[in-house]
Amino acid sequence: MVTGAEAGAGGAPFAGRVAVVTGASRGMGRAIALRLARDGADCVVMYRRDAARAGEAVAAIERLGRRALALALDLGEPAEVAPAFARIGEVFGRVDVFVANAAATAFRPTLEQKRHNLQRTFAISVESFVAAVQAAVPLMRGRPGRVVAVSGIDSQQAMARHGALGAAKAALESLVRVLAMELGPLGITVNGVSPGLVETDSAQFYVERGISREYTEAVKRIIALTPVRRAGTGEDVAALVAYLASDAAGFLTGQTIVIDGGLTILSPLNLMQADPASGAGAP
Ligand SMILES: NC(=O)c1ccc[n+]([C@@H]2O[C@H](COP(=O)([O-])OP(=O)(O)OC[C@H]3O[C@@H](n4cnc5c(N)ncnc54)[C@H](OP(=O)(O)O)[C@@H]3O)[C@@H](O)[C@H]2O)c1
Repeated sequence: MVTGAEAGAGGAPFAGRVAVVTGASRGMGRAIALRLARDGADCVVMYRRDAARAGEAVAAIERLGRRALALALDLGEPAEVAPAFARIGEVFGRVDVFVANAAATAFRPTLEQKRHNLQRTFAISVESFVAAVQAAVPLMRGRPGRVVAVSGIDSQQAMARHGALGAAKAALESLVRVLAMELGPLGITVNGVSPGLVETDSAQFYVERGISREYTEAVKRIIALTPVRRAGTGEDVAALVAYLASDAAGFLTGQTIVIDGGLTILSPLNLMQADPASGAGAP
């Protein structure tokens, strides 16, 4: 891994490094890949089936002057992971940062979850994560490396129709801690980020189809409850990932950091107030 000083005057701390981001064709993953590219990294844009949007993300990264590769794979099939990383090894010869961002599930009450839905949710967020770390570590080749996993508040809080995904994210956070312990001696840190509401395709799908709410109205209500009075953006999460992936974060490992504008620090009693910050007003 080159140091910030070798990379030049502060502008491109990841110059010469390779970042692999799953689910980077859109949403948060795209914002994370673009942020790391802006900071100097060559990027692998992993996606499942939207080749057009993955191609657009690659073009945006190349416009920043970095190399980029779109790689399609279904993380629901963990056996696809090792061959994908073998290809990354052929093209780039190294991996410095691995960001496990993609997730998918069937949003339904737990009693209605089918076995294959549970298996697929865990295959994507847990099995493929382990397979990817196993494949990425040899490509880090003794250099300092960074693994960042994208969790969610469903790992800690009960959310309607999130039983399967929340359980998978809780497992992911547990793996973050164990892998941090196991990979720390190799100079590799492992951390998680746990976003609140970030306006993406998935957020809209969950609000409209998962909990049958009108999206714009639901977002407005969440913003009113959020201490910083706005929804999150992919760029908010990307800035945190960029920090965790940086040389400056070398002593930070095994943690999952909540990034939600303060929403989940509020007590249920405060959430009942019109103005949760001051506690004033009727529900
Ligand atoms: N949005 C939120 O409010 C929120 C809050 C907390 C946590 N999160 C977490 O943040 C992460 C990103 O969420 P997002 O809202 O940015 O998602 P998104 O906009 O829906 O994007 C999902 C990405 O994952 C890829 N993907 C989906 N299933 C896949 C599979 N089986 N194999 C490989 N790739 C797959 C998609 O590829 P294609 O484009 O090819 O389909 C796409 O690139 C997820 O882990 C999510 O649980 C989101």
